[in-house]
Amino acid sequence: MAEPQTFLEAILVRVAGFCAGQKMKTLAVCRGAAASRMVRSVANLEIQAIVDILDLSENTTATSLNVDPSYRAVLIGADNSTTMLKVLALCGNYKTANIPVLAVDGWPVPIDARHFAAEAKVSGEISVPGMFDVAAGYCRHGVTGDIFEFGTFQGFTLQCAYHAFNHRGNLGTRRFIAFDSFAGIIGTKKGEGFFDGAFAASEASFRFANFLAQVPDDRVVVIKGPYSETLRDREKDTRAALGPTSAAIVHIDCDVEEPAKMALDFVTPYAKQGTLLMFDEYDMQCADNSKGERAALRAWLQENPTFEVEPYRAYHLGARSFILHKR
Ligand SMILES: C[S@@+](CC[C@H](N)C(=O)[O-])C[C@H]1O[C@@H](n2cnc3c(N)ncnc32)[C@H](O)[C@@H]1O
Repeated sequence: MAEPQTFLEAILVRVAGFCAGQKMKTLAVCRGAAASRMVRSVANLEIQAIVDILDLSENTTATSLNVDPSYRAVLIGADNSTTMLKVLALCGNYKTANIPVLAVDGWPVPIDARHFAAEAKVSGEISVPGMFDVAAGYCRHGVTGDIFEFGTFQGFTLQCAYHAFNHRGNLGTRRFIAFDSFAGIIGTKKGEGFFDGAFAASEASFRFANFLAQVPDDRVVVIKGPYSETLRDREKDTRAALGPTSAAIVHIDCDVEEPAKMALDFVTPYAKQGTLLMFDEYDMQCADNSKGERAALRAWLQENPTFEVEPYRAYHLGARSFILHKR
């Protein structure tokens, strides 16, 4: 097999190796320019025998795909998140059949330290991987504890967090705790710019992405379910399952106010002086304080006057981080 030249090719090499080992194939479902990239990459790597490509640019009428059980995984290539969500929905039967479905182009998996570092170096703004690098560096100064992530989808940010702590030599005993229903957003209100069900993935896809990204299973704790259950109705069970812990980083990426507030409420006993709060959608909706993750943080601060926040880095497109202070 030829040496991978791009991020996508690096992922394909790992997928192809894995599928070949299991004597199975992978289906790549792509659209637009991503389809041409996939065809080119598969040809460059000479893995046509392992990867079948379904180019949706040539067939826009399909509404769902029938499951072919000879595929071990389904890879998605799409150039923007709207198209990616559509293709993801089209592959719903595969998810139901517990076959990993993973967006790999346009929504990449940080496959190893070299690719993570290349992604982290985006000029002009701090990228998402770059922010996790900053966060892991910040935590070296005595901020102990686990990484709590509310909103995991396929695990891109959790994988970034793992690689960041790993390459800063500061993993210690940290765990990466993923809170997600894997059923997409739940709790969207009118005017929040999202819709319920968006970003539906599956635990199988998340775990497969972690495997590709070389995130060890024993670092990851999955708390699966809607937050109304895992953080509210079954809160005690969740706390018991986590055991004693504290939060080094709380990454809120569940997009809208209701789940973000539930996440902050749940994490309160684990929050401490120095915990880094990261909000992926902080400046969405014209930075309106009454909406989204902003509204959740404001309400939480009002209810918890022993805490205050100090603005830290802004990053990516409207994401922000804060250092938590305990009075
Ligand atoms: C934008 S995605 C997260 C993206 C992810 N951090 C990444 O790196 O790709 C939002 C996630 O929040 C989850 N989510 C939203 N509302 C939820 C709720 N009420 N309960 C559980 N999970 C929820 C969705 O299932 C989805 O996976």
